[in-house]
Amino acid sequence: MKLLKEKILQEGIVLSENVLKVDSFLNHQMDPVLMSEIGREFANRFTSESITKVLTIESSGIGPGIMAAMHLQVPLIFARKRKSMTLTDNLLTSSVYSFTKQEDYTISVSSKFITSQDNVLIIDDFLANGQAALGLIDLINEAGAALAGVGIVIEKGFQEGGRVLRERGIKVESLAILKSLKDGNIQFADAATEEVIIHE
Ligand code: G4P
Repeated sequence: MKLLKEKILQEGIVLSENVLKVDSFLNHQMDPVLMSEIGREFANRFTSESITKVLTIESSGIGPGIMAAMHLQVPLIFARKRKSMTLTDNLLTSSVYSFTKQEDYTISVSSKFITSQDNVLIIDDFLANGQAALGLIDLINEAGAALAGVGIVIEKGFQEGGRVLRERGIKVESLAILKSLKDGNIQFADAATEEVIIHE
């Protein structure tokens, strides 16, 4: 997605070979116009899948998730990472290992909102090792629902999440795939934009 890649090149900050900071439009401040275009792009890519619900995980998945849900005209559900005072009964839960934080955390969704009638699209901001997406897939399986696919804003192609999901036969649509962040350069994986751009 051209608009997103331009934004990444303009505003992304390479923190290390593995980490891209995009807090000016995705992870802290959010750009609503870009987010709406991201939602429209996801809706277009999954338009033939008869999706009934969009599922994401708090917090940074909520922006792209709600915009995808709006363009698909279906509800968005966000899995919670922390215990909620009101979310206590009949929970679907899964344990997720975070490589960045090196700890497990539990994600949960009320079983009221995902049922065996649903065909669910997962949306998330980043795909790194795929642990968050696998946890969300667990919740969908627990509910007896169907998985329509996974939509990712930024996939880190040099980490294994994309391969793990695609090897399971899951339709994964990433709007920008990073090939490398070496030497402070942001390099995308697809041929059309495969030029090395020095990011100052
Ligand atoms: P995984 O789910 O793909 O295995 O990812 P991992 O545990 O490695 O990542 C944990 C958190 O770090 C997630 O957000 C994920 O979105 C984020 N993340 C991973 N790589 C990058 C990166 O290169 N840049 C940025 N900006 N974020 C990255 P989180 O901690 O759950 O945060 P939030 O959703 O509450 O904002």
